[in-house]
Amino acid sequence: MKADEVAKQVKHYLQFQDFTKEEHEYIFTRTTELKRRFKNYETWHPLHDRTMAMIFEKSSTRTRLSFEAGFHQLGGHAVYLNTKDTQLGRGEPIEDSAQVISRMTDIVMIRTFGQEIIERFAANSRVPVINGLTNEYHPCQVSADIYTYIEERGDITGKTVAWVGDANNMCYTWIQAARVLGFHLNIATPAGYALDPKLAVESDQPFFTVCDTPMQACTGAHIITTDVWTSMGYEAENEARMKAFADYKITAEMMQAAAPDALFMHCLPAHRGEEVDAEVIDGPQSVVWQEAENRMHVQKAIMEYLLRGKFE
Ligand code: CP
Ligand code: NVA
Repeated sequence: MKADEVAKQVKHYLQFQDFTKEEHEYIFTRTTELKRRFKNYETWHPLHDRTMAMIFEKSSTRTRLSFEAGFHQLGGHAVYLNTKDTQLGRGEPIEDSAQVISRMTDIVMIRTFGQEIIERFAANSRVPVINGLTNEYHPCQVSADIYTYIEERGDITGKTVAWVGDANNMCYTWIQAARVLGFHLNIATPAGYALDPKLAVESDQPFFTVCDTPMQACTGAHIITTDVWTSMGYEAENEARMKAFADYKITAEMMQAAAPDALFMHCLPAHRGEEVDAEVIDGPQSVVWQEAENRMHVQKAIMEYLLRGKFE
């Protein structure tokens, strides 16, 4: 079979919407089982002898560690590659890199800039590709966040999530998740940083409301979430963003206006005093450490599913 025909048959997780509601429900159920096995020191090696390539074009703490530790727990070995030390940084075409890397490994995780880069890699890959963050999306993080909500509060269907701050990769992934899983998103972004209509498309529109203020977005919500004012790759805009986002900070008053059992979430790293007050992120409604821990278990379920299918 020709390389592009092989590549077309492979399943990837490049955006949240690449998995259906039913597939995500399977992933969340499976995550509970994989987390339980790990906590009980039960060995489970469905990916014994397999190798994962982790390609990083941006910095990371959680994503690198959770994928590397998680793949090891499933019996495999993860190899870390970055742009600086590989031919990727010296102009080797992404298509050629995909052909080579996917002939030596069984699965690939990529953190990069534009979504089109990971799509071009996947189109030339013989093995599954997972998005570990692009400028547009961060599906593993939102999956872990939703799993954390389910773990703490149960079904997310019909609930309301408040997004306050930048219309960034996390925000666009929450929008896709709302459509795929059936919940609602209240979004408050500052003037000049509104949603990009190319990323918040018409079919998403019943699932989100653009609010005038952060307080309006948070009122009655079951999850309050935010992110840094300046994402990786946008550092040149930092000064302007510090001014534009000054009022887009989650405060204790906003948490009080939310549903009584609301949770505070943040993908981390966080800047206390900028997008969130310390008393909120360090307060009793915050589940940020649990979200980080759950990255590893949700990603194990995703990798196991992409390589071995469902275990009933
Ligand atoms: N939340 C997240 O993806 O963190 P890292 O940038 O540390 O990987
Ligand atoms: N929106 C942030 C998320 C970091 C995990 C960024 O892209 O830098």
